[in-house]
Amino acid sequence: MKYSLLRGMQDIFPETIHLWQYVEDCAKKTVESFNFKEIRTPIVENAELFLRSIGEDTDIVEKEMYIFQDKKGRKVALRPEGTASVVRAYIQHSLFNNPAPQKFYYIGPMFRYERPQKGRFRQFHQIGAESFGIASPVIDAELIYMLKMFLERLDIKNLNYEINSLGCEKCRPEYRKVLFNFLADKVTNLCNDCQRRFEKNPLRVLDCKLPACKESLKNIPLILNFLCNDCKNHFLSLQNELDEMKISYAINPRIVRGLDYYTRTVFEVTTTMLGAQNAIAAGGRYDTLVALFGGPSTPAAGFAIGMERLIEICANSLSIKPEKNLVYVAYINGQVEEKEARKLVRFLRNKEISVETSYEEASLKSQLRKADRLGADIVIIVGEDEIKKSLYKWKNMKNGLQGEASLDELVDLIRKSNVNN
Ligand code: HAM
Repeated sequence: MKYSLLRGMQDIFPETIHLWQYVEDCAKKTVESFNFKEIRTPIVENAELFLRSIGEDTDIVEKEMYIFQDKKGRKVALRPEGTASVVRAYIQHSLFNNPAPQKFYYIGPMFRYERPQKGRFRQFHQIGAESFGIASPVIDAELIYMLKMFLERLDIKNLNYEINSLGCEKCRPEYRKVLFNFLADKVTNLCNDCQRRFEKNPLRVLDCKLPACKESLKNIPLILNFLCNDCKNHFLSLQNELDEMKISYAINPRIVRGLDYYTRTVFEVTTTMLGAQNAIAAGGRYDTLVALFGGPSTPAAGFAIGMERLIEICANSLSIKPEKNLVYVAYINGQVEEKEARKLVRFLRNKEISVETSYEEASLKSQLRKADRLGADIVIIVGEDEIKKSLYKWKNMKNGLQGEASLDELVDLIRKSNVNN
């Protein structure tokens, strides 16, 4: 075969798609009960949108963006995340004129040119939620609560919820200065990435996973000691809310996140079930982003869940069967029988029953063999006798039961034997 998948991309086959659909369905039900509404934004956007929102000096923008020129020479990008696009749509369509809060969710592919490894892909999928117009920390806590509710519905427990505050435009510059001074005489001991971060985005050194850097930065000043009163109160209220909701969490002052738009609350949900790529979901507040893009000053917060990582966990824990039974309509060879069989197939499909049949002349025996190989749950046989009596022979391939039934009885019987009914 001349062509194969690009590195870091995946085909998802029907055998696992039902799991994806189940997870998506569960996500929709959960977030819709918090009044989040679905939004679909394009996969390709003006590259500038991401450069400015995520930040020029972040790994995503510096190294991981799929950027190219379109035929008119415009610089466009495959979206590496969903928040920036939702913010763009919110401003472009003046959604701020609608009564607050405005809450949106999205499910779809994102693209980052990262080094692929287990749990890390170049095309991956996120379920994201973004809330606009609420400044109160109650929504920060509620987002975490919603996330937890969703993950528990998928039977995923034992997760670590970690929170931090990154301060605001008032207090963060002071912290940056302190951090810069602290790093100045250590910078030569740090890895190349950290040396670069030191110049451009010193907060990111906190994120470095290399043991040598961690060791040099043991006593690094932490942002939580530099929060202004408003940020401190916001962070405390968030903790009170989480306590009220009985969510156990840890404060991790080293969470800085790989995107520059965050203000105040940031959080990550991690698991020990995944190996190195252990973050299932992450998010936080971004109170300045709407204004940065020319909209009215609007507090906002959200999160995104990595679907591939979620599915990997669910594949081991959930036993979800495909929603519908497959019915195979077989017929005794003959023009009348074939016509009648095709009519029956159309009838059942009109009832939203999943039906397969033979598209070429084949003996009954080989049709039954085919039905078996396709994993049919129920086989119906159409022959001269059946047509005369308007009663069809059926057999449940899973439990061996068989009998004869009229059209209406057939529909009933198929629906009743559905695994998920
Ligand atoms: P993020 O932390 O960059 O945040 O991504 C969120 C989640 O997407 C991660 O926790 C991870 O599960 C998944 N993810 C990220 N990159 C990959 C990858 N290469 N392969 C597989 N999964 C991946 C955001 O994207 C923010 N937009 C979240 C947010 C929404 N903040 C506020 N609103």
